[in-house]
Amino acid sequence: MRLGAHSKSALRVHGMDEGRVRFPVGPQNKNKHRTHRVRCLFCLQKPVFAILLGIMKREGFNIKILKNFRQNDLKELNDILLQWSAKRKEITPLQFRKLIKKSHVIAMYDKKTMIGTVTLIELHKLSGLKGIVEHLMIDEKYRGRGLGEKLMKYSVNLAKKLEMKNLYLTCEPERIAANKLYQKIGFKAKETNFYQLTL
Ligand SMILES: CC(C)(COP(=O)(O)OP(=O)(O)OC[C@H]1O[C@@H](n2cnc3c(N)ncnc32)[C@H](O)[C@@H]1OP(=O)(O)O)[C@@H](O)C(=O)NCCC(=O)NCCS
Repeated sequence: MRLGAHSKSALRVHGMDEGRVRFPVGPQNKNKHRTHRVRCLFCLQKPVFAILLGIMKREGFNIKILKNFRQNDLKELNDILLQWSAKRKEITPLQFRKLIKKSHVIAMYDKKTMIGTVTLIELHKLSGLKGIVEHLMIDEKYRGRGLGEKLMKYSVNLAKKLEMKNLYLTCEPERIAANKLYQKIGFKAKETNFYQLTL
């Protein structure tokens, strides 16, 4: 990239050459630096960069697989799943213990607060290891920011790591956002009859 005259002098004052960075600016350049700072875009943009960096850090959502029993995880999971349906029964500690032992319960956090979840279930079949994805859920306050997609992609990558050959899921047609999301990341609807026997 060719630099304009001002940009070149800006780089010099900041102790940099094209393609080379030398920090910091020495005390002998202090005054030069100060007058330059008044008109230099490079300097003026620094606070903007800092603000952007702060926003990105604040947006630092992290994802983890729940492996050990923690009462707080159970409570937060129940709170999120309650948004699915107010009639939903809470997961009991015993159910939760079995769930995290047998399946991959994935949770997304905003700092320390759980804001989403999805479960990957191993399905050992004669035809090889397959997976079922269930209970994808993002807290209402956090929807529409790409987090559901991020969580689903995480479960797909985990399935690949586990060498699953296929992933299955079912989704009610009226769940517009979820259906769109699944199709966006490559799931294809299959023409098949889905049967259920209530026991
Ligand atoms: C489905 C759900 C997890 C999506 O989470 P989200 O974080 O809001 O979704 P994202 O922001 O990651 O969006 C990813 C894609 O999903 C689709 N999508 C998300 N919200 C949508 C909406 N309101 N309408 C249409 N499509 C939507 C879009 O294809 C979007 O991609 P785009 O932004 O490039 O258009 C969330 O709406 C949810 O928790 N719903 C209730 C529970 C549920 O229905 N779970 C699925 C059970 S099968």
